[in-house]
Amino acid sequence: MAIASLDNGNAGGHFAAMRRKIIIDTDPGQDDAVAILLALASPENIEVLGITAVAGNVPLPLTQRNARIVCELAGHTSIPVFAGCEAPLSRKLVTAEHVHGKTGLDGPQLPDPTMALQDAHGVDFIIETLRREAAGSVTLCPIGPLTNIATAFQRAPDIIGRVQEIVLMGGAYFEVGNITPAAEFNIYVDPEAADIVFKSGVTTTVMPLDVTHKALTTASHVQGFRSMGTHVGRMVAEWTDFFERYDKEKYASEGAPLHDPCVIAYLIEPEMFQGRHVNVEVETGSDLTLGMTVADWWGVTDRPKNAQFMGSVDADAYFSLLTSRIARL
Ligand code: RIB
Ligand code: CA
Repeated sequence: MAIASLDNGNAGGHFAAMRRKIIIDTDPGQDDAVAILLALASPENIEVLGITAVAGNVPLPLTQRNARIVCELAGHTSIPVFAGCEAPLSRKLVTAEHVHGKTGLDGPQLPDPTMALQDAHGVDFIIETLRREAAGSVTLCPIGPLTNIATAFQRAPDIIGRVQEIVLMGGAYFEVGNITPAAEFNIYVDPEAADIVFKSGVTTTVMPLDVTHKALTTASHVQGFRSMGTHVGRMVAEWTDFFERYDKEKYASEGAPLHDPCVIAYLIEPEMFQGRHVNVEVETGSDLTLGMTVADWWGVTDRPKNAQFMGSVDADAYFSLLTSRIARL
């Protein structure tokens, strides 16, 4: 990507690294799992208020199960895990077992979770948390389809102004799509939800494929996980061994993009990312380009700038943060 001028992660009124209270909205997915582990391994930077599962990579019964498996693996069974929406706002669910396997966490054998799933619906948890916590003190970290977030905003518009920031993994512009020629998976699964989120007015930082495709699980990076000598490190290496096969073959690359942990790494070390504050809109009409995130990178329209759209990352810093933090678990 020929990027003339990039600003760092704090431009456009964004927040420097400070201790954050976050809700992770997720569809585990091996890369989601690594993002959750990074968050739980970084208490000096992040307080995880809860994890809300959404249908995406695999159906909801599996994503909520997988979220609990990851919390148990990390030894954090007190983190409340909620099941959210089981289908997009108005479309049939599209899943990604071809990448993540039938369970969504294929690779290592993992025991069934024993920690309880919370009774409340994930959307209700998002609404109640934002109403309870001080306004502007909670960051939403969606790393799957945006159905839960959009449903919460529709059901309780009063919470929109109370969100500190949305930091999401999704979208693509120069990197083009991964589930269709035009669209990235998280946006494609529920484009109407993404449209609601991108038009919400909340300060939003986006980790699109443009940046995640520069964070590849090369052999040396995976060796960094394996040589931790911990059970968690071995699990992460085996997840990577499984899910990277699809992208390595598709892109004939040295490794697969480790998408979702970019969201958490941004909260800890925003300076490792660079991007630009631009307008981003979501295609919800055309079958050909459904779910495409159209980024006005060169400012050729007067559409309002609504997203810090990341385009590059210091991959060595990224993987060194991942290995140093996950080694703590
Ligand atoms: O396109 C990548 C995204 O889709 C990641 O969040 C991955 O987990 C899948 O959900
Ligand atoms: Ca995901």
